[in-house]
Amino acid sequence: MMGNEAGLKIEEMLCQLADATRIDGEIWRAAYTPEDRIAKNILREWIEEQGLEYREDAIGNVYGRLPGTKPGTVLTGSHLDTVKNGGKYDGALGVVTGVAALGYLKQSGYVPKHSLEVVGLMEEEGSCFASGCQGSRAICGTLKEEDLEEVGRDGVTLREALLSAGYQPEALKSAKRDDIRAIVELHIEQGPVLESEQKQIGIVDSIVGIFNYELTIQGSQNHAGTTSMPLRHDPVVAAAKFITESTRQMMEQAPSATLTYGMLQVFPGMQNVIADHVDLRIDMRDGSEEALLQDEVILKRALESIERKGFKTRLSKNHCLASAQMDPNVIQVIERHCKEKQLAYKHMNSGAGHDSMVFGKHFPTAMIFVPSIRGISHNPAEATAAADIQTGFELLCDVLKELSE
Ligand code: GLV
Ligand code: MN
Ligand code: MN
Repeated sequence: MMGNEAGLKIEEMLCQLADATRIDGEIWRAAYTPEDRIAKNILREWIEEQGLEYREDAIGNVYGRLPGTKPGTVLTGSHLDTVKNGGKYDGALGVVTGVAALGYLKQSGYVPKHSLEVVGLMEEEGSCFASGCQGSRAICGTLKEEDLEEVGRDGVTLREALLSAGYQPEALKSAKRDDIRAIVELHIEQGPVLESEQKQIGIVDSIVGIFNYELTIQGSQNHAGTTSMPLRHDPVVAAAKFITESTRQMMEQAPSATLTYGMLQVFPGMQNVIADHVDLRIDMRDGSEEALLQDEVILKRALESIERKGFKTRLSKNHCLASAQMDPNVIQVIERHCKEKQLAYKHMNSGAGHDSMVFGKHFPTAMIFVPSIRGISHNPAEATAAADIQTGFELLCDVLKELSE
């Protein structure tokens, strides 16, 4: 293929998508928002320009299709949404590269046996509806009627958000797919390994499991100036102790785990008020359910130490995503093409969550990683070199071709 032409074009498309969907300068494409609609309209144009068939399903996944001559579909793509103040590449790279790959194959006169489809998935990040991966769960048939009642960040349910964006929550079941033969998700690594080892491609063997919790630490609201330091019962100080202590213990006792306190809210939230309570969201990840259950014991032990100081706490596990193994046959196809192309590649596990961990339980699924510059992700500085995008694009074309035979 043609130098870095495709890589540069994909980069340009990612910039266009990001620039069209900024809020106050920050990229944030959450499901069913105006930004999401703008992104889909742009994607529709690109899909149709490539001569692919565009459609949206009942819950807002978008598809571009290159029809085959036989039943069955090979799916590529990723999520179209981003985290708040996110980057241009997380998710979108897999969608845009998928559109480019199917377009290239069509223009080169290729007619697949099994249809090829690219998908832009809804709300993987859970930035509005915290359970996340609603798009892939609907495709697998595991997003249920009761999940439509999840209340999002803006206080509306998923069902209400779908209706106001013009989708059909009552037709949720129609989003389920039974015709998928294989799925390949191309994604940025979001970590430093490929770059530091000078590899062009990562082949994902497994994806971590994720437990999410909500925690409330209850103190006693009082006046900041008149309550002497020994007499106060400040939940912010307790939260700080808990965060420091649980982090230290987790690093010592469970080195494979990650523990993140990415959301803290202080109530009522005034400078001159000792807080009434603090709400925290916790993201904990490890290689297996068993490991996560052991990590949970460490977390609870750290919590007991602040309970002994008289603080009431309430910990609830609100979302779990099971770890997933990728499909050995799809991995083998990817690896063979890496070898044929003499690419520098490595097998790796993903510490980031992906729709592929949902898909992997239902369909033969694998992931291709391309390097992230300085390992930065979930950050506006997220980037991947055009040459690496080109390599991912070319590999994806070959892998999709083989899988669709
Ligand atoms: C998604 O990016 C996640 O790993 O949370
Ligand atoms: Mn992400
Ligand atoms: Mn992602």
